[in-house]
Amino acid sequence: MRWNRAAARYLLVLAVVLTGCVASNAREAGNGGGGRGPLTLATAGDLTGYLGPLLEGWNRTHPGERVTLVELPDSTDETHAQMTTDLRGGDSSRFDVLNIDVNWTSEFAAAGWIRPLPRSRFPLRSFLPPVVDTATYDGRLYAVPYVTNAGLLLYRKDILAKEGVPPPRTWAELERDAKTIAPKYGLDGYAGQLFPYEGLTVNVAEAVYSAGGSILGADGDRVTVNSAAARAGIDFLARGVREGWIPKAALTYQEEESKQAFQDGRLLFLRNWPYAYAVASAAGSKVAGKIGAVRLPGPHGPGTSVLGGSNLAVNTHTRHPDSAARLIAYLTSEPVQRQVLTRGALPPVRAALYDDPDLVKRFPYLPTLRTAVVTASPRPKSPHYDQVSLVVQAVVHDVLTGHETSGSAVRRLARELAAVSRR
Ligand code: GLC
Repeated sequence: MRWNRAAARYLLVLAVVLTGCVASNAREAGNGGGGRGPLTLATAGDLTGYLGPLLEGWNRTHPGERVTLVELPDSTDETHAQMTTDLRGGDSSRFDVLNIDVNWTSEFAAAGWIRPLPRSRFPLRSFLPPVVDTATYDGRLYAVPYVTNAGLLLYRKDILAKEGVPPPRTWAELERDAKTIAPKYGLDGYAGQLFPYEGLTVNVAEAVYSAGGSILGADGDRVTVNSAAARAGIDFLARGVREGWIPKAALTYQEEESKQAFQDGRLLFLRNWPYAYAVASAAGSKVAGKIGAVRLPGPHGPGTSVLGGSNLAVNTHTRHPDSAARLIAYLTSEPVQRQVLTRGALPPVRAALYDDPDLVKRFPYLPTLRTAVVTASPRPKSPHYDQVSLVVQAVVHDVLTGHETSGSAVRRLARELAAVSRR
């Protein structure tokens, strides 16, 4: 009897403890219960060389939760197409953790493809302020920032020094130097990424934001693009192509092609993400030691960069949500974030790394990048973002190829974007 009572008490305590474990697992996993086990991590295939060793670090210490990397195409657009096709299949999805472009968070969350995550589980306060916002939708956290990004202006330091000219701060200075200095050295003036894909939307948004305009309102619904400022932004790019200080070849450039032109010594100025600075400075590059980076110019001084980067999200249908959250905590931990920079040349989300003297010595653009990130603006936050971006690309491509004026383009954009947000 006494034994029975003791056993009953023991069983009761055990039950309470076990229930507590299950409940806390369910909470930690976000929603939908605990679950540990092997994982797949899907990511765009570019710039992932550094990731294998980082995941090996996890696999060594988490044998029951090994992660397999699934590399999708390099281009963000094609990766988007493959991921969304897979996720529409629901339960049968191949991916547990998704490394998604920051601008997909709203679409994936609204579609129910990724699950909300508990804020308390991740070190959000240690991140650079604007990046957390790219991971939220409807007031909830749907992903965890992993890599950030902001456009910078790379320039040929050696040439500007010879000319006794500081790097440009305004569009007028950029245009002047691109027109007058570049030809003296047999170079093209300025390029960004003007091929019709997500990169074109980024370049257009940066020009429009820098001129004080916008594309959609903060709610992601209201269309605000029909303005003199947006027109001035589009005009800056169109004028460059028309006048030739932006080479026609830039209409075929994505990030890599434009970086290559700069690295081969064919360009005086390049708009690109900071990885291009790291690669073009590496041993073997023709322009190593000859380049500098500043914030993007705008009409009256430094302009506004678009906030880029990627977030880690958990597939709603994963069978191992707890392991997924644990892997994300690992990938956003300080030591791993340090390696994202040192091995991957990608901008980390942890703020403290930008002040680390050793890192600043190795990556001299870090202070400039930090300012560019904290003053950057997100792309329009809309569950229909992919459609919004396609409209921007199509209309601006017509302007850059001389088939439409910037004035009629902002009116057409307004009409077509209104149709998208009504969908
Ligand atoms: C970079 C950015 C990403 C952006 C893409 C455009 O990968 O991090 O946010 O959408 O470039 O090509």
